[in-house]
Amino acid sequence: MPNNSSHSMPGQAPIFSAKQVSMDFGHGKKICHAVQNVSFDIADGAIVSVVGGSGCGKSVLAKIMLGLYAPTSGEFLYQGRPITDQRDHWNDVQSVFQDPFSCFNQFFTIHSQLKDAFGILKNKPSRAEIDSRVDAALRAVNVLPAEIEGKYPFELSGGQMQRMLLARIFALRPKVLVADEPTSMVDACVRANILDYLMKLKHELGMTIVFVTHDIGLAYYVSDQIFIMHEGQIVESGIPDEVALHPKHPVTLQLIDDIPDIHKDWIKR
Ligand SMILES: Nc1ncnc2c1ncn2[C@@H]1O[C@H](COP(=O)(O)OP(=O)(O)OP(=O)(O)O)[C@@H](O)[C@H]1O
Ligand SMILES: [Mg+2]
Repeated sequence: MPNNSSHSMPGQAPIFSAKQVSMDFGHGKKICHAVQNVSFDIADGAIVSVVGGSGCGKSVLAKIMLGLYAPTSGEFLYQGRPITDQRDHWNDVQSVFQDPFSCFNQFFTIHSQLKDAFGILKNKPSRAEIDSRVDAALRAVNVLPAEIEGKYPFELSGGQMQRMLLARIFALRPKVLVADEPTSMVDACVRANILDYLMKLKHELGMTIVFVTHDIGLAYYVSDQIFIMHEGQIVESGIPDEVALHPKHPVTLQLIDDIPDIHKDWIKR
C-alpha cells in the first residue's frame, strides 16, 4: 500500500486527522525519519490500535497525538484544528504510558495524586465531586478505596500501579486516551483486565482510545481499526478481521507469527 494513502473509516467525523505527517530527528547523515508521510483519520469513539515492532515510530506518533511533538511536515488535526495550546489539548487528550511508576510521584500518596490530577482540567470540579469521581474510578478498576488509602506508589506492584493510571483516566474522563503499551509490565491475567477496562472506557464513557502495542493479538481483541507501522510508515490498516485474519503485508504476517503463544488462539484463521 503506498504510504500516502489515507487510512480512514468511512462516514464518521474524525477526532484525529493526519495528512502526510512526518517527524524527523537529527540532521544530515544522522537524520532519523521516525514517522514518514502517514495519513489517517480516527473516528470519534473508536478504539484504534497502532501495532508494530520496536523502533517503528509508534511512540513518536503517540506523542504527536498528545501534542508533545509538532510534526516536521504535514498536517495533524484534533477535531479539525491544529494543536496550538498543549494545556487545552490535555484537557481533552490524556495518556497512559509504559512505565506507571514514572507517572506518579513517589513522595505523595496515590489517593492525593488521583485527586490532584484534576488540576489539569480547565474547569476543576468541586471537592465533593472529585472525591466521588475518584472513588468511582477506583471501583471501576476493581480497587476498594480503602485498599490504597495512605499508600505510596512504591508500596504497590507494577500491575496495581497500571490500574491506578487507568483509574486516573476513569476519574478525569478525557475525550481521548492515548495508551502506549499499557500492558507491557503485567502478567497475562492483569493484561486481560486492562484490556477490559479500556473497553469499559469506550463503552461507558464513549472515549476514543489509541492503543499502542507490539502485539497484534491484543489489538485484534480490543480494536475497531488497526494500523500496522513499519519504519515510520503505516503499511496496512483496516478493521481487525481484515488486517489480522486476511493480512496482506509481510510485516503484518510477521507480527501474527510473533503473537505470544498464550493468546495465539485469539486469532483463528
Ligand atoms: N526524541 C528523539 N530524538 C531522536 N530520535 C528519536 C526520538 N524519539 C524517538 N526517536 C527515534 O525514532 C524512532 C521511533 O521511535 P519510537 O519511540 O516511536 O519507537 P516505538 O515504535 O515506540 O518502539 P518501541 O516499541 O520499542 O517502544 C526510533 O529510531 C527512535 O530512536
Ligand atoms: Mg514505544
